[in-house]
Amino acid sequence: MKEFAGLTDEEVELLRRTGRLSIDVADKMIENVIGTFELPYAVAVNFLINGRDYMVPMVIEEPSVVAAASNAAKWCREGGGITSIASEQIMVSQIQLVKVPSPHTAVIKILERKKEILDVANSTNELLVKLGGGAKDVEVKVLDSPVGKMVVVNLVVDVRDAMGANIVNTMAEAVAPIVEEASGGRALLRIVTNLADRRLVRAWTRVPKDVIGGEEVVEGIVYAWAFAAADPYRAVTHNKGIMNGVIAVALATGQDTRALEAGAHAYAARRGRYEPLSTWEMDPSGDLIGYVELPIAVGTVGGSIKSNPMTRLSLKILGVKTAKELAEVMGAVGLAQNLAALRALATEGIQRGHMKLHARQLALAAGARADEVDKVAEEVVKSGVITLEKAQEVLQNIRSRK
Ligand code: MEV
Repeated sequence: MKEFAGLTDEEVELLRRTGRLSIDVADKMIENVIGTFELPYAVAVNFLINGRDYMVPMVIEEPSVVAAASNAAKWCREGGGITSIASEQIMVSQIQLVKVPSPHTAVIKILERKKEILDVANSTNELLVKLGGGAKDVEVKVLDSPVGKMVVVNLVVDVRDAMGANIVNTMAEAVAPIVEEASGGRALLRIVTNLADRRLVRAWTRVPKDVIGGEEVVEGIVYAWAFAAADPYRAVTHNKGIMNGVIAVALATGQDTRALEAGAHAYAARRGRYEPLSTWEMDPSGDLIGYVELPIAVGTVGGSIKSNPMTRLSLKILGVKTAKELAEVMGAVGLAQNLAALRALATEGIQRGHMKLHARQLALAAGARADEVDKVAEEVVKSGVITLEKAQEVLQNIRSRK
């Protein structure tokens, strides 16, 4: 590596230096490990969810997100907090059957063997079955694809406290020979769907109008939401704001963030058009009512969660015992994050607060020491030119003044 990339001794040392995740553990988590990678770890405060107080660990590189979530959580708290309810923890894996001679007959033939399919699927995970989970249903559909008809089997599995991808992939591979035989075709793909639309979180809140600046601000937030409802170009950014919160908690708790993103955005487009995942409305008394609905497939058990001491710590700080509860917290954070963004956008804009924090990052990048950062950031913001070059110039000036 050193030769290939022309690394200095200091850079090699930087790679060698690891923190709480040891190189041995990291090396077992993924392949070709040459180090570990750190990001800021923060806690969002003020969250009252389903009547319980939470401190919410968040991992994110973007300034403002944690402060925004904490502010919005405070506004929600004034109206009684956030209610968040997750559905059952159902994941689906798909088995693709190609070259099926009579696709519609195959549907029947496969369904006739449903019990056998479920038994074989469940034989791969006795513990899950003991915990009340396991494969629960088999669904079969015929698809018209660009290369002709194909048959797809959905294996519907209650995965309890696991994220579940591994569980359902194992089950799909185990039952593929049965459905292949029943269909007379060939089983090709056997894989989870990340459109986890049977694993939804629904969260809502009421924010008293006076807490967020009166009826005009409430109206502004509703207009902001309506823009997203009418225009996918706005909806995707609206949803990005929701995912700022969801993914920061996901990273802190060791989740598969790509699965969450893929699922959320596919769900946003489920009606054939990309839509906002939340709605905002003014109630008759002028208060703001917010609602979010999205798939959240997360786990509190499983390899990557247990092996990283920081993700274990995050779950302890959160005090969540089940995947369902973790998903409920994440949905609530997404809703609060969305509220904070919309309020900022509908009032002073996000740049003022954002730029202050951004200037601190620039100050750091310019080489400012911890005791210089705030001063540099302040002068950069005052100058109105918020660039790295400006931060370097300001830093030089400050040092020469000393
Ligand atoms: C920035 O990370 C997130 C926002 O763009 C979200 C939004 O526009 O609603 C502020």
